[in-house]
Amino acid sequence: MHVNCDNSGMTSRFKIAPSILSADFARLGDEVKTVIHAGADWIHFDVMDNHYVPNLTFGPMICQALKPHAKTAAGVAVPIDVHLMISPVDALAASFAEAGADLISFHPDASGHVHRSIQAIKSKGVKAGLVFNPAEPLDVLEWTIDEIDLILIMSVNPGFGGQSFIDSALRKIEHVRKLIDASGRDIRLEVDGGIKAENIRRVADAGADTFVAGSAIFGKPDYKAVIDQMRVALG
Ligand code: DX5
Ligand code: ZN
Repeated sequence: MHVNCDNSGMTSRFKIAPSILSADFARLGDEVKTVIHAGADWIHFDVMDNHYVPNLTFGPMICQALKPHAKTAAGVAVPIDVHLMISPVDALAASFAEAGADLISFHPDASGHVHRSIQAIKSKGVKAGLVFNPAEPLDVLEWTIDEIDLILIMSVNPGFGGQSFIDSALRKIEHVRKLIDASGRDIRLEVDGGIKAENIRRVADAGADTFVAGSAIFGKPDYKAVIDQMRVALG
């Protein structure tokens, strides 16, 4: 484990959110601790149901088990950023809130009542986000941007780690950045899929401030080296 605990994103406007989808599932607690000591700002937790997406991962019990591990060496809590790729949304969203999630995002096309799902999350005192697949329009934001804390743009089709970044996400990020700025609200703009040290600057230049990275970090032996490279690229 790395001894140098930085987590410099706490003072930066940019946040790096390693996705434990690419971690060693046999040692998840240690993986969470190690990646936090390597400088992770958030822990990204990908929930898949083999219905909304063709894959199956983990549920609220695993989130609850990891919660005590999601803190820095100094004992500062590191947010758990739950990305729900499930349909329906509301019942499990409530379970994740009770399991210690700090942010819960869902895909609007996975919920029959998007506004109700947002309210269900916020009523538990948890931040709420909306996630947009590569081909998903942003129309719903016109009616929800005043309610949400985070917008997550998918730069791959959801379901699997290790895919290539889809370039049209950059235009979408630029568009969402304008919507957020026009709203005057404090909303994080997160991007998920195919992010690495080599392309993170381009994604930031398009307007993103929060970066999910799974295989780029967990696929290398030295997580801190990768996170440091990402921070250098971000400047
Ligand atoms: C994909 C997940 C991602 C995934 C990203 O459906 O939402 O969070 O872990 O993996 P990489 O960074 O490998 O593209
Ligand atoms: Zn994700």
